[in-house]
Amino acid sequence: MTAATTPTVDATERAHLARALALATSVRGTTSPNPAVGCVIARGDRIVGEGATRPPGSAHAEVVALGAAGEQARGATAHITLEPCAHHGRTPPCTDALLAAGVTRVVIAHPDPNPTASGGADALRAAGIEVVLGPEVFRAAVADELAGFLSLVGRGRPHVTLKLAQTVDGSLVAPGDGPGGGRWITGPAARRAVHRWRASVDAVLVGSGTVVSDDPGLDVRDVPLGRRQQPRPVVLDGRLRTPPTAKVVARGALLLTRADAGRSVRAALTEAGAQVIDVPTGVDGKVDPAAALRVLAVHGIATVLAEPGAKLAHTLLGAGLVDRLVRHVALGTGAGPPRPVLDEDADGWRTVRVGGAGADLIWERVPVTRPAVPTERQA
Ligand SMILES: NC(=O)c1ccc[n+]([C@@H]2O[C@H](COP(=O)([O-])OP(=O)(O)OC[C@H]3O[C@@H](n4cnc5c(N)ncnc54)[C@H](OP(=O)(O)O)[C@@H]3O)[C@@H](O)[C@H]2O)c1
Repeated sequence: MTAATTPTVDATERAHLARALALATSVRGTTSPNPAVGCVIARGDRIVGEGATRPPGSAHAEVVALGAAGEQARGATAHITLEPCAHHGRTPPCTDALLAAGVTRVVIAHPDPNPTASGGADALRAAGIEVVLGPEVFRAAVADELAGFLSLVGRGRPHVTLKLAQTVDGSLVAPGDGPGGGRWITGPAARRAVHRWRASVDAVLVGSGTVVSDDPGLDVRDVPLGRRQQPRPVVLDGRLRTPPTAKVVARGALLLTRADAGRSVRAALTEAGAQVIDVPTGVDGKVDPAAALRVLAVHGIATVLAEPGAKLAHTLLGAGLVDRLVRHVALGTGAGPPRPVLDEDADGWRTVRVGGAGADLIWERVPVTRPAVPTERQA
C-alpha cells in the first residue's frame, strides 16, 4: 500500500474506525488462519452497515458490512481495520465488492503485509476511490490484535506467548508432596487468567515432560468460550512418551516428534485421537522448536500459548521464539526474594503489564526487538 497524502481522517471517521476495531476484537480466535477484521460502512456519522470476518471459507468483514448496508453503501465511506484483499482466495477479492457497492472512500487502519493478498488500496485508488490510512494509534492496536496473522505472514510461524507459573523464589514446580510437587503453584484467580488466555489462542503447547508428569487437559474451563473453539493441544514429544490414555490425546493433540520415535505406539496414539507428525531435529537431537512452529503454521495455527515446564521454556527462550512472556508469580509460596530463573532476565525484554490476580502477581514482558508498527511512510 503506498502512502496516502490527503485528506486526513476526521474525528467521526476515527470513531467509526474504533467501532471497526471493536468488531474485529469480537471475533478474535474464530477466524484463523485468516485475520479477524472489522468493517463499518457509514454516511457521515450514520453507520449504515457493519460486520466482522466470518469463519474461514465464508465472508470477509467487508462483504458482511456491505450486505448489511445494501444500497446505502453507494457514496458511503468504508472503515476497515485491515487493507482489503485484492486476490481470489477461497472468496472473491473484497476490493471488487467495495467497487461494485459504490463506496467512494475507504479508511484503513493497517496495511496488509500478505504478499498474495495486498495491493487492495492501490487497486481501489486505480479505480478512482479515495483511500487513506488511519492514525498510527490504530495501526498499533490492529498490530496487537492481529499479532498471530502478522506473525504467520511475516515469519511463517505463529505468535508465541510463554506462560510460566513460579513460586516467589523461582521454582516452576509446586511445593508439596510427590516427585512433581503439589498440583498448583498459583491461586484460582491466576488460573482463571490462564483459561482466558487459552480461550484467545489457537493452540496450547507443552513438552512431553509436562504430559507425563501432570496429564493436563490444556482446555478452556471456568471461562466462557463464546463462539471460539477449544484450543488444539500440542506436545513436543521427541521420544513419543505421551501415553495413549493422556487427556490431550483424547482431545486430538498434535504430537510433534522425531521420525525414528515410537514406531510401536504410533497406531495406538492415532487410534486414541492424536495426530503424530514428524519434525526435523536440531543439533541437540531434540525436536527443532522452530521447525515445530512452522508445522503449526501449516496447520493454520496463528497463536500459541506455551505452558511447558522449565526444559521447553528454556529452549523456546533460547531460540528467540517467545513473543510475549507472562509470569505468574505466587507471592505467598517459596522463600526469599524473586530471583532470575530463566535467560529472559538477562536483557532485551521490557515490561508491558504488571498486575495482580488474587494473591498472585501477573508480569507480562515482550522482547524489545518486537517488530515495529509500520509507519505511514512505510505503509
Ligand atoms: N510452573 C509452570 O508453569 C509449569 C508448567 C508446566 C509444567 N510444570 C512442571 O514441570 C515439570 C516437567 O518439567 P519438564 O521441563 O520436563 O516439562 P516440559 O518442558 O513441558 O517437557 C520437557 C520435555 O519436552 C520434550 N521436548 C521435545 N522437544 C524439546 C525441545 N526442543 N526442547 C526441550 N524439550 C523438548 C523433551 O522430551 P523428549 O526428549 O522426549 O522429546 C523434554 O524432556 C513438572 O513437574 C510440571 O508439573 C510447571
